[in-house]
Amino acid sequence: MSFLSKNLSRIKQSPTMEITARAQELKANGLNIISLSVGEPDFDTPQNIKEAGIAAINQGKTKYTAVDGMPELKEAICNKFQKDNGLTYSKDQVIVSTGGKQVLFNALLATLNAGDEVVIPAPYWVSYPDMVKLSNGEPVVVETKLSNNYKLTARELETVITPKTKWLIFNSPSNPTGAGYDWNELKELTDVLIRHPNIWIMSDDMYEHLAYDDFEFCTPAQVEPKLLNRTLTTNGVSKGHAMTGWRIGYAAGPVELINAMRIIQSQSTSNPNTIAQWAAVEALNGNQAYLNINKNKFQERRDVVLDMLNSIDGLECPKPQGAFYIYVSIAKFIGRTTKENIQIKNDEDFATELLNSEGVAVVFGAAFGLSPAFRVSYATSKTELIEACNRIKRFCSSLN
Ligand SMILES: Cc1ncc(COP(=O)(O)O)c(C=O)c1O
Repeated sequence: MSFLSKNLSRIKQSPTMEITARAQELKANGLNIISLSVGEPDFDTPQNIKEAGIAAINQGKTKYTAVDGMPELKEAICNKFQKDNGLTYSKDQVIVSTGGKQVLFNALLATLNAGDEVVIPAPYWVSYPDMVKLSNGEPVVVETKLSNNYKLTARELETVITPKTKWLIFNSPSNPTGAGYDWNELKELTDVLIRHPNIWIMSDDMYEHLAYDDFEFCTPAQVEPKLLNRTLTTNGVSKGHAMTGWRIGYAAGPVELINAMRIIQSQSTSNPNTIAQWAAVEALNGNQAYLNINKNKFQERRDVVLDMLNSIDGLECPKPQGAFYIYVSIAKFIGRTTKENIQIKNDEDFATELLNSEGVAVVFGAAFGLSPAFRVSYATSKTELIEACNRIKRFCSSLN
């Protein structure tokens, strides 16, 4: 009998982190590698936020805080929800955790019993299904279509709902597609959920601040206030505020759920890092001029990469509304062979051969539950992005 738990055998290491680590290793060995696999902004944490962290250290604000986050940060979070999303939450409806990841994990662990189903639209963020499995639940993956820009439709949602459905995980703008649901698209989904009063909604709003052109971000509890008492609205400072390493995520929802999540956190990590919490207070309350500056830079890069990739014969990618990812369909390349006569049987082969022959690291679609495709992260300089797209073009045209 294995020493390891049965639950562990149901999951795998995060493939995005694995590929990023492999690209870093090849780079360290002196190879000319461009990594389009990273899931974090390349921008530095804004200076005012760094200074708030340094001030916290110098002022001795380095002790434990309340398990579910300090009141100053909870207050900033309540204000943020009111200001940005029109959502009224009180401090006892808020929890702060070690990154958005822990927020989601706490919620699933606190609510799932064996056999409970969680609906996850694909392509999905790699961690959702495995977090569900670790919490004893069953992920129910529902594939979206490229022709609908990888957005879930009301009909698709309706077909996968069963009496065992406990949660829908909703993510807009999405990792890995950058797809953002506008008010009407989201309303169609919330209308379905209104008809199914036992289903809760976990809205992962991590990329809220990275929304382009005239796309206006909205979140389920805002679009359908009747869902407020069964929605967990989750967010964090990692992506929009360029604070991935600080590890602060947060959520707001019904008190009973938040209390349950706090119990889990109290017996696992306790409070999130105190210094990072003070920095997050500044991120939410302080000068946020950098939000627009970073957003504009990302939008410019999205346009460059999207144009270049879509001009490559055989590749197809819809225009993302947000985040910093593009999901590229490679259906036309499956079955082709490389110059070395290696057959591309699936998207993992495509990504491996692209890395081997051109030194470009991307994450294959199977990792996100929808093949054949790959995800490009454009969180790197324009010069590198242009060079990477040229290499992808060369690779594609070398396939027979
Ligand atoms: C959609 C989505 N949700 C949540 C997270 C987790 O964010 P954090 O780094 O704050 O744990 C990520 C990070 O990649 C993400 O892409």
